[in-house]
Amino acid sequence: MCAAVYVLSTVTGYVLTSALLLKFPTLLHRRRRVPFLSRHISHRGGAGENLENTMAAFKHAVDLGTDMLELDCHLTKDGQVVVTHDAHLERITGVSAYISDMSYAELPPYLCRLDVSFQRECVCEGGEDKRIPLLRDVFEAFPKTPINIDIKVDNDTLIKKVSELVVKYDREHLTVWGNSSNQIVQKCYKENPRIPVLFSMPRVFMLLGLFYSGLLPFVPLKEQFLEIPMPSIITNLLKDPDNMTRSRRVIVWLADTLLMRKALFNHLTARGIQVYVWVLNDEKEFKRAFDLGATGVMTDYPTKLRDFLEKIGTSK
Ligand SMILES: *[C@@H]1O[C@H](CO)[C@@H](O)[C@H](O)[C@H]1NC(C)=O
Ligand SMILES: *[C@@H]1O[C@H](CO)[C@@H](O)[C@H](O)[C@H]1NC(C)=O
Ligand SMILES: *[C@@H]1O[C@H](CO)[C@@H](O)[C@H](O)[C@H]1NC(C)=O
Repeated sequence: MCAAVYVLSTVTGYVLTSALLLKFPTLLHRRRRVPFLSRHISHRGGAGENLENTMAAFKHAVDLGTDMLELDCHLTKDGQVVVTHDAHLERITGVSAYISDMSYAELPPYLCRLDVSFQRECVCEGGEDKRIPLLRDVFEAFPKTPINIDIKVDNDTLIKKVSELVVKYDREHLTVWGNSSNQIVQKCYKENPRIPVLFSMPRVFMLLGLFYSGLLPFVPLKEQFLEIPMPSIITNLLKDPDNMTRSRRVIVWLADTLLMRKALFNHLTARGIQVYVWVLNDEKEFKRAFDLGATGVMTDYPTKLRDFLEKIGTSK
């Protein structure tokens, strides 16, 4: 009897403390300083409106008032940090070669038309600008715009050089970097802990484990950005969504239900950790993400997202 009372009161105490701290995390954690806040994020510069990761795309996005550019980095054979998504050039240039085997001067231009990775059967027709830019070009052109950098290869030189460029252009407070691989994120953090990092995939799983066990409110976190997909958008990407097997459907539903949690988003944002959801390309999804309390949305269609934000009247 006595033991039962003891267990019951302990469990009740834990549940109540956890719930209290989930709702009011600053009772335990100092709110992180948030150097910038992004609602509108242009994925690869807005891959649906310009050729992805080109200066033309970045300029278009910044001109229409994006809060943040999202881009990807690789290293050329001659050690230049370039902004492009794939390690292999076939999809984007039609040339069968790896970026790491070519010097910057040898890199071929982009094709005139590229598929939009996150939008089924959508092709982006490019303009004049088909050049793969240097990271330095982007930093020089947009000194005030926050940039989200995906480190696309596990290469120490790449990480070091990106950090050096970030420092040189004085934008540690305007940068977030990382990768889905935890190893890469740890290297980034070790290289320069003053540049904020995002949660790698294993750390996202850990975060969910902590959240659902009630431990999250007690645990300190080093990451300042949670960047996650909205699992339900997978039906936008498949050629034939009605053809998904039952088990796939269940997995997508489960992932969506576990990940898209308002209580989780609110807790993190109250701790000063921003939540970005990718890659959303229509209004229904924008609305869902913001209703859930996400800080920002990554989109291939910056104009569409800008119009949406203006419509709901919270655009800057
Ligand atoms: C990093 O990239 C450079 C340039 O492509 C290459 O020479 C070097 O071997 C790479 N390092 C590792 C550890 O892969
Ligand atoms: C993470 O790095 C791997 C290579 O290590 C790359 O294939 C992948 O695209 C990267 N993912 C992101 C989200 O940057
Ligand atoms: C959809 O499923 C049917 C029956 O299983 C199959 O014959 C068809 O090829 C599938 N279509 C696609 C696009 O996968």
